[in-house]
Amino acid sequence: MSKSVYITRVIPSIAVEMLKKRGYDVDVYPHDRVPSQREIIKALQKKQYDAVISLLTDKVDATLFDATPSVKLYANYATGFDNIDVAEAKKRGIQAANTPGNYAYTIAEHTLALMLGLTTRMVEADRFTRAGKYKGWSPMNLVGTDLKGKKLGLIGAGRIGERVAHHCYHGFDMEIVYHDINRNETLDHDYHARRCETVEEVLVQSDIVSLHVPLLDSTHHLMNELRLKMMKPTAFLINTSRGPVVDENALVKALQDGAIAGAGLDVFEFEPKLARGLNKLPNVILTPHIASARESARTEMAKVAAQNVIEFIEHGTVKNSVIK
Ligand code: GLV
Repeated sequence: MSKSVYITRVIPSIAVEMLKKRGYDVDVYPHDRVPSQREIIKALQKKQYDAVISLLTDKVDATLFDATPSVKLYANYATGFDNIDVAEAKKRGIQAANTPGNYAYTIAEHTLALMLGLTTRMVEADRFTRAGKYKGWSPMNLVGTDLKGKKLGLIGAGRIGERVAHHCYHGFDMEIVYHDINRNETLDHDYHARRCETVEEVLVQSDIVSLHVPLLDSTHHLMNELRLKMMKPTAFLINTSRGPVVDENALVKALQDGAIAGAGLDVFEFEPKLARGLNKLPNVILTPHIASARESARTEMAKVAAQNVIEFIEHGTVKNSVIK
């Protein structure tokens, strides 16, 4: 009997092509919106699906597992997998995978764009100009800061953090400090970075703090009120990891009080909602979780997700399993 795969949202067509080439039946959620769990369950109960390509917006938990017992693999179309109850999946012998592909550079470029957007005040300047406020060159208008020579503080030094460090070190002569449970030899040797034992040690000395950790119980609200206050009042916070890593209400307060100079955020604690007051602040740049939204990265993610499904169906193994 041919195998059936459901994809919970339209993703680059290469994934469907790869799966169909293997003779699988492939169905895709047809609407351009985030499906509710109820909708996903309804769709999955129409057939005996073997595998699902899920999205970071899908809640993959006991309720879904109970309702769709034929599905033995949830292959997330994302690097992050905090939407999957991994412990519950493991208990039930269900596999789950992610797409940790070769696109860290894409997220790193977006991170750099947020940094430069803040230091050059690019977004403010664009709004100012469009509003017809530009009345002639002024020595004191929209004065920003340089990245050159500043200190970058990375919280999390995996593939993405490392690539951010690469740009900052080579492109902007920045000094780099980082906190990670593991030492990163490339950072240490190639970028002369210094590993700090604690998050706090990074915060007190950095001009730009950039977050690159997965969302885990231990990283939820890693940036809380106390830690935000430890940052320099001239420093910027960048978050392209997961929203709940930052206590967003505390961040709004820190920005309002001038405890830090600004923030560049691609992810939000209550996504897609914003914490009250965040969108009123002039010193933040907000992008709608698009750090990986480049054709190259999205195509790579689609290929890796499809490959995870194929490998599982044909060999029973999953190279990118997140079940440890
Ligand atoms: C995007 O946020 C991802 O995890 O790939």
